[in-house]
Amino acid sequence: MNRNLVHLISEAEISDTVKRLALEINRDYQNRSLVLVGILKGSFIFLADLVRQIDIPIDNIEFIRLSSYGSSTVSSGQAKITMSPPTQAITGKHILLVEDVVDTGITTDTALRYLQNLQPASLRLCSLLDKPIRRQIAVKIDYLGLEVEDLFIVGYGIDFDQKYRQLADIYYLEEEKQSKNSEAFYPLSTI
Ligand code: PRP
Repeated sequence: MNRNLVHLISEAEISDTVKRLALEINRDYQNRSLVLVGILKGSFIFLADLVRQIDIPIDNIEFIRLSSYGSSTVSSGQAKITMSPPTQAITGKHILLVEDVVDTGITTDTALRYLQNLQPASLRLCSLLDKPIRRQIAVKIDYLGLEVEDLFIVGYGIDFDQKYRQLADIYYLEEEKQSKNSEAFYPLSTI
């Protein structure tokens, strides 16, 4: 099946959004030691950009990995923790969970429950993107970048079947029909 990439969010808009989120985090976490926990794999670029905009001390950066999708644009409805941070990195610490996109909410809800069980001093969620129309489980996003429609988005760390994570902008995948706005299948001059 042919899929076209349609441009959705520019690198500049992402950058402005990351800076705004970092300002909110800098303001709220003053005089506290912050530990970031990135949800792999999708958050790796967002997390890398976010930490470089945060100017309060970050005590530690950890990662948690969950799986919710296979090679399909349909959510499986389940999240499984496949990699978790060490307990001592979470217990008693101020934890900010960093996610690329909240869709059904299953991934972040699972991660938040897991981390809460490790008894952090506080636990908040920062997500670059939110697809509220897709929500199956209520999730409170303390720091939200942008809302998006019910589109299958890729780029800036977000994949389809492990591809497209490298794209600097965010696109959505449009199946089959050719769109006037769509770009070449891979919009990279280097490939
Ligand atoms: C995607 C995305 C989020 C999650 C959101 O990750 O990066 O982590 O799905 O979906 P949900 O709210 O419906 O649970 P994915 O499981 O595709 O893994 P990846 O981050 O390794 O690409």
